[in-house]
Amino acid sequence: MAPKGTSFVCSECGELSYRWLGRCPGCGAYGTMAERSEVPSRGCSGLAQRETPVPHPLLAPEAEESRMPSGIGELDRVLGGGAVAGSLVLLGGEPGIGKSTLLLQAAARWAAQGVRVMLVSGEESEAQVGSRAARLGISHPDLLLLCESDLDVLERATRSVVPGVMVVDSLQTMWVPGIDSHPGGVSQMRESVFRLQRLAKEIGTAVFVVGHVTKEGVVAGPRLVEHMVDCVLYFEGDRFDGLRILRAVKNRFGSSSEVGIFEMTDGGLREVEDPSFRFVVPRARPVAGTASAVVVEGKRPLAVEVQALVAPSCLPTPKRVSSGVDPKRLAVNVAVLERRVGMRLTDRDIYVSLTGGLRVSEPSLDLAVCLAVASSHLDKPLPLGTLVLGEVSLTGEVHRVSRMADRIREAKRLGYGRILLPCSFLEEAKGMGLSKDIDLVGVVDVEEALRAVSLLSCAASR
Ligand code: TYD
Ligand code: MG
Repeated sequence: MAPKGTSFVCSECGELSYRWLGRCPGCGAYGTMAERSEVPSRGCSGLAQRETPVPHPLLAPEAEESRMPSGIGELDRVLGGGAVAGSLVLLGGEPGIGKSTLLLQAAARWAAQGVRVMLVSGEESEAQVGSRAARLGISHPDLLLLCESDLDVLERATRSVVPGVMVVDSLQTMWVPGIDSHPGGVSQMRESVFRLQRLAKEIGTAVFVVGHVTKEGVVAGPRLVEHMVDCVLYFEGDRFDGLRILRAVKNRFGSSSEVGIFEMTDGGLREVEDPSFRFVVPRARPVAGTASAVVVEGKRPLAVEVQALVAPSCLPTPKRVSSGVDPKRLAVNVAVLERRVGMRLTDRDIYVSLTGGLRVSEPSLDLAVCLAVASSHLDKPLPLGTLVLGEVSLTGEVHRVSRMADRIREAKRLGYGRILLPCSFLEEAKGMGLSKDIDLVGVVDVEEALRAVSLLSCAASR
């Protein structure tokens, strides 16, 4: 039996146990439970000697938190107006998506405004960071670089420099001496984040820490430390397409539903001024298997195109492949077409994707998915200039979604001439004057929507 007070922690998943076990009860790995050393780092940096703190009455802060806008509008919007002094921001994303590039470009903008910035690279050499900076034409005396992964050394260097902004790239490479796990292990990452959070608060530096996540989000890293940081941003996009979406999933100093949209170019990341124009494909003639809709990302309505391909399947279980569209919603939409409209899709493979690498889970795409699939299946396009809005229920009825008016306005702005929308919202839309210069068509269910775009007569015969 281990002495009282001793604990064991799994180096793979961080599971805690008060007795030694050969196999971790959390992740099932063998031989990973190690005795937890009494986190020496916290004691050695002065916590033990501090006087007993006296709690104060809770008062509203006298001044707003101090913000440092980078000048990159799309980044500042997601941060809630700029970097906050003393905050810790986690920037997660797949390797190669552009996290280091984004933070280097932002660092250069802060430095140009007189903010001292310290880049800490644990994964790239000076030459590598230097060549990226040269590629982007970045060089500034206030932009400092430290290639280091030992957190003790990093902490000492930071205290001597006291930068306004610090970028730590990446969390997986940082290690705290005395913690019995390898860099990138759960205990190392938790302790690193804890130390960086405390450092940020003590010296008032805005700290950005990069964390790699795989496509499945399985790397036991960023997700495990999300609760320990002030702000969590994810950088997403299709690596083979230039568009990148910066999404706030948690923000103690701003809205957590904001998104910023960028494009990766040869000269680094560029802000996308009018994203809707990037997500819809301009067409001179209609194409079967496509349907446009407007989704709301953060606070912004964005027009998108759903593309579908329905092909004969030779598999006992036909494929249902979706990219950017929630696979569960796709399954429901396909089932509605089968059961409520009588479309025979059981022996068909169905592929559905959303343009521009966006990932959308809100139900406003349902009607567009149904119509794109039906259009591909029947090989008949929707009329050009038509956009569809609505959630499809299990009964096949079309329901309204949030922010209908904003979505209609966005469609009008982009020059769509006709919108299919739930009947229940038609009168309201007319009352709001939204039917001016656009043909609003109310539909009760998917069947009526298919009829409104002249697809149904064919549907019955297939
Ligand atoms: P990077 O910022 O290193 O990604 P991460 O830090 O998320 O791993 O960006 C990597 C990719 O971006 C790489 O494939 C090259 C590309 N890139 C450009 O296309 N243009 C540029 O100006 C830069 C600096 C990178
Ligand atoms: Mg990187």
